[in-house]
Amino acid sequence: MDLAALHRAHVETLSRGTEAALERAGFAAVAIHSGTALKRTEADDQYWPLRPTPHFQHWLPLAEPGCWLVIAPGRKPSLHRSLEYSFWEAPAEPESDHFWGSFEVASGKPSLPPGRVAFVGDDLRAAEELGLLANPPQLVQALDQLRVTKTPYEVECLAEANRRAAVGHEQLRKLFHGGDRAELELHLAFLGATRQDDAETPYKNIVALGKHAATLHHIAYEKRAQPAGSLLVDAGASFAGYGSDITRTWVKGGGALASSYGQLVAGLEAMQQRLCASVRVGMPYEELHDQSHRLAAGVLRDVGISRLPADELVARGITRAFYPHGLGHSLGLQCHDVGCALRPPRKDNPFLRNTTEIAVDQVFTIEPGIYFIDALLDPLRASPDIDWKLVDGLQAFGGVRIEDDVVVRPNGIRNLTREVLPQGGGVA
Ligand code: GLY
Ligand code: MN
Ligand code: MN
Repeated sequence: MDLAALHRAHVETLSRGTEAALERAGFAAVAIHSGTALKRTEADDQYWPLRPTPHFQHWLPLAEPGCWLVIAPGRKPSLHRSLEYSFWEAPAEPESDHFWGSFEVASGKPSLPPGRVAFVGDDLRAAEELGLLANPPQLVQALDQLRVTKTPYEVECLAEANRRAAVGHEQLRKLFHGGDRAELELHLAFLGATRQDDAETPYKNIVALGKHAATLHHIAYEKRAQPAGSLLVDAGASFAGYGSDITRTWVKGGGALASSYGQLVAGLEAMQQRLCASVRVGMPYEELHDQSHRLAAGVLRDVGISRLPADELVARGITRAFYPHGLGHSLGLQCHDVGCALRPPRKDNPFLRNTTEIAVDQVFTIEPGIYFIDALLDPLRASPDIDWKLVDGLQAFGGVRIEDDVVVRPNGIRNLTREVLPQGGGVA
């Protein structure tokens, strides 16, 4: 794969889209700032590693603070790197050189073309310094829309981010299979296997053994090894600013409860694959989410958690107590990428982050889950239609989530995750 050629075509597409956005918003140019490292606390002299402004990284994978990118119709994009020299710290070198040819590279403050120039970036002091109007909403929304569908370059970066994360997931499955582990040990093993520092991951690794899987974003890793019948790992890897977002759930051990939990994992795996196969261009993503609740009801019935008809489990909000989050979200430079929630979801889907109509070249996750969360199940406790003995037993396993990253194609999807990690979960 010629990444430089893909990147050149990406910049051409992005230039055309940005020029149209500038014209509609009434600007002659946009100056995009890469960002400034944030202090850990005001009283300290330490800084968090820089997370570059995603609108900057949409053009190039450079993680240097204080850079400017100037986009003006008819001009080659110009990159202005900061002259500031520090002998305390230096930014990491980019991992690959594929992108430099698309830019005029200079040092110091940018030279701006005549006319109205907008600022886009996270550090508003940089906008003030140049006297630019910061983040005009109409322009930012139009630039966000350019991130809803992905170019072949972006898909290749996301595919590489999936390939890298797959190595870590496979390593954790083996470690879990091999004995009792500490969550911290598994987290560090994922970083080692994917060759990432913690700050480089697209989001903080979620590593949950046993009942901890009931905390959807469990990042407070237990440091002692513990016996556990389940492992949920929600972790990704980064490449050129793009991140994968993958969840796998594994089970081990014997006994009736482990067997019921294994059935739950298998049911969720089958359901997740059915949802992947149901993706159609033109379908509202929310319709896929609704379908996932009907399927989740079937899984709850198959495992014996309730015998109510599936439509009643959905209508009475019972599936929502076991499966409270959205089916998925747009993915790209941000784990929860922008531009796919212009319309809020229906009131009964409060956490759904994707309300678009599914379109070719969108990239999103498909990540149904079923959990045993006290705070959500307690209001249902009076219901005789739920097998509470079984639910109480399964709480030791926390829950299940299976998550893949998919690209929409004219006749379905390309599943970037299954290409490199064929199994969503099951017996470790
Ligand atoms: N890893 C966070 C999420 O799946 O949305
Ligand atoms: Mn996700
Ligand atoms: Mn995830």
